[in-house]
Amino acid sequence: MVTSELSNHHHHQHITNNCPMAKPISRNKNSSIFLSDGCLFLGGALSALILVWGFSSFTTFPNDTLNFETLSQNDAASSRTPDLTFDPPDKTFFDDPQMRYTMGKKVRNWDEKREEWLKLHPSFSAGARERVVMITGSQPEPCRNPIGDHLLLRFFKNKVDYCRLHGYDILYNNALLDPKMFAYWAKYPVVRAAMMAHPEAEWIWWVDSDALFTDMEFKLPLERYKGYNLVVHGWPHLIHEKRSWTGLNAGVFLIRNCQWSLDFMESWASMGPQTPNYEKWGKTLRSTFKDKFFPESDDQTGLAYLIAIEKDKWADRIYLENDYYFEGYWKEIVGTLQNISEKYMEMEKRVRRLRRRHAEKVSESYGDIREEYLKDSGFGKGSLRRPFITHFTGCQPCSGKYNAMYSADDCWNGMHKALNFADNQVMRNYGFQRSDLLLNSVSPLPYDYPHP
Ligand SMILES: *[C@@H]1O[C@H](CO)[C@@H](O)[C@H](O)[C@H]1NC(C)=O
Repeated sequence: MVTSELSNHHHHQHITNNCPMAKPISRNKNSSIFLSDGCLFLGGALSALILVWGFSSFTTFPNDTLNFETLSQNDAASSRTPDLTFDPPDKTFFDDPQMRYTMGKKVRNWDEKREEWLKLHPSFSAGARERVVMITGSQPEPCRNPIGDHLLLRFFKNKVDYCRLHGYDILYNNALLDPKMFAYWAKYPVVRAAMMAHPEAEWIWWVDSDALFTDMEFKLPLERYKGYNLVVHGWPHLIHEKRSWTGLNAGVFLIRNCQWSLDFMESWASMGPQTPNYEKWGKTLRSTFKDKFFPESDDQTGLAYLIAIEKDKWADRIYLENDYYFEGYWKEIVGTLQNISEKYMEMEKRVRRLRRRHAEKVSESYGDIREEYLKDSGFGKGSLRRPFITHFTGCQPCSGKYNAMYSADDCWNGMHKALNFADNQVMRNYGFQRSDLLLNSVSPLPYDYPHP
């Protein structure tokens, strides 16, 4: 939807994926049944057909001829819809007592294991290369900030909305899987476990609890990340030349469910508090990235280290995204939301099909239409396009201990504005909207809103 307008600033050569699926999975929904060599798949598909026939023979439809068109539609539907009731008895990695969900134990041949599982579960094959599971989470205890849990709920609602609109699964975790891996380190055991729990997913998308989607229409340009296994927001010169620990942000990342990623996360996490080298790593990171102001080893600087210092080993599979707000700094964004709202409103006044009421389920198609009118808006700072993800770095909604460089009002008003800005996009499909981004009350929208 947006990729054609985005230029790739990266100077990496095209690299073939280090973690390919052993066989490309057919993306043609109608042909996958014939390309598959699994008997189980044919069996499953046949029983689906029998079910369709059986069903139609019991039912008298006004037009009861079962022509090829309806047949192929049914095929398409059954091959696109994952079968949640089917798990054959064939052994997979799940049956291997050596396999662990936890970090710290080397997994081998994960790509083959995943692929075998997919072969045994053919209804998941269609779309497997694009399947994304979003993961987010927070601490096991209640927030200390009195409105912290309310804010986290709203941040989570926003992610659920985004996932529902785009057909992604989402997991909220609030258990500390490895008690020694606290704070920002806690996400890695979750991502590790999720890779195994979701062999059907190609990508795991970690989004911090204090980040939210401020453009509900924008979709990840996955084609761009074909040769890459990890995507983070970052700027190569800040990491390689300036050696700044803020040359990237580790609060949002997309990681491919593959062997490379498991190996990479083991290296990454080996700088964490669960290891005897934690203190040593704190010193190493601080002496490499001079602007790092706290002594503890942290995941963000650790990632910058692996990119800058262990460059040959990892960097060619890591995509530093900065063409759009893969993750954006809230201070830069919040002040622009009002003008962006107005710009979109004007757009809808001009273009009738953009303001047409429609089912929420088909709203992606309206995002595609809108793209025509946003082509020249650019991305990022200064653009009047909605920023994709706004990250409230340093506001600490749960603990309430916001960074001293911000004021409390900046943080709380900023979060309310951004959450309402995003929620307006959702409520629109339900016929309601907030007139003011700082107000929580909504009002019903008239027909043909916004009328020119
Ligand atoms: C918003 O738009 C107004 C009017 O066009 C302009 O004066 C103002 O500078 C804009 N604000 C921001 C933050 O861009």
